[in-house]
Amino acid sequence: MSTNNPTPSDRRRGSRKSALKAAVKPKYKPTVRAPPPPRNTKESQEILDLFHHAFNALFTPQLPELLQKVKTHLFNRDFLEAFGAQENLEAYVVRWSPSRALCYREVFLELSPALRKVFELKGEEKVEIVCIGGGAGAEVVAVAAAVKSLMRAELAAAPAPAIAKEEGSKAGENTGDEEVSEEPEEAGEGPDEAKGLENDLESLTLTSDSPPATTPTPSRSLHMTAIDIADWTSITTTLTTALTTAPTPTRAAYIPPTLYSVDFHHHDILTPRDTPLIPPTTRLITLLFTTNELYTQSRAATTNFFLSLKELVQPGCLLLVLESAGSYSTVLVNGKTFPMGMLLDHTLLAGDVWEKVLGEDAKWFRLPEGLRYPIELENMRFMVRVYRKT
Ligand SMILES: C[S@@+](CC[C@H](N)C(=O)[O-])C[C@H]1O[C@@H](n2cnc3c(N)ncnc32)[C@H](O)[C@@H]1O
Repeated sequence: MSTNNPTPSDRRRGSRKSALKAAVKPKYKPTVRAPPPPRNTKESQEILDLFHHAFNALFTPQLPELLQKVKTHLFNRDFLEAFGAQENLEAYVVRWSPSRALCYREVFLELSPALRKVFELKGEEKVEIVCIGGGAGAEVVAVAAAVKSLMRAELAAAPAPAIAKEEGSKAGENTGDEEVSEEPEEAGEGPDEAKGLENDLESLTLTSDSPPATTPTPSRSLHMTAIDIADWTSITTTLTTALTTAPTPTRAAYIPPTLYSVDFHHHDILTPRDTPLIPPTTRLITLLFTTNELYTQSRAATTNFFLSLKELVQPGCLLLVLESAGSYSTVLVNGKTFPMGMLLDHTLLAGDVWEKVLGEDAKWFRLPEGLRYPIELENMRFMVRVYRKT
């Protein structure tokens, strides 16, 4: 019987090999790029609390029955029925969008440096993102969470900017090489967080010869356009308000409205329009758990839609497609089942218009431990493609 177990001499050879490897391995390996922010449970909990508070009135004893009804429609892939009634939309949001928001935040920040860069809000005054099939709230919250997370990381890493410098120069201390003793306060903690974030953001953009922080400076901001065939107007409004409004006079908004804004368009993306809803300066277009529904409605129209994107956006624009791994990420073409990733590659990479930045057919998002939420949350497994317009 053959065995793959190592023999004692294999083991000796192995240990000699690893000793040699350890001896030649450099002790210090320079990092090529900054490490991603930690999978912060506190940040994840904030996201869940936001959904919980925004839709508090929905958590009633009747909710499980309603969820079961929506689940059945989704299982039968009867999406028009599943998203056809207001109560179904609300049930969907509280049950599925929180897990998705956590997953998408991680995808935006950790999947690819190109993607993460969009949320750093660098080099532009206003970053445009378009989320197709993005009315259900997960994208609305995840985009805000990604921006906030990077701002926190930026603030924590920044060598104390203008304000500390000013204080230091008053006392004739802190010449620049010294460490500033006070740690930057973590955003989200204090009572004046919204004001603080805006001021912090302004002070980060100041150079040493910039005017003092009280002078208005052009600030970075992100605008999201969500386009969806179902009417998620009230859901996106509720969530955007929850994100950008101070919940009490003593607590700040999650993100200031000057920094983040959302417009929702109730529109079938497969129906062409005279005036496109996708701004030409769009940096990122997302289709998250939506492409399967588009292919189900019309494979030809979906292919045309993907092909038409090149006319609408500029070089550098990213296209992110995520779909549930397994049967949802397959498409039936003339009676034959194709992996959706393969079909998208075939459609988009045929000319020199799009290049593939990333492609995986089964990736996991696992929830951090210890999160609190009144109903079930779930891990996710998905196929992913990221393309860039050349
Ligand atoms: C499974 S849900 C995913 C929602 C959200 N992206 C998420 O990940 O939580 C699919 C979404 O695509 C939308 N959708 C389906 N067909 C569409 C179309 N032709 N045009 C625009 N949106 C569409 C649905 O209304 C629904 O909101």
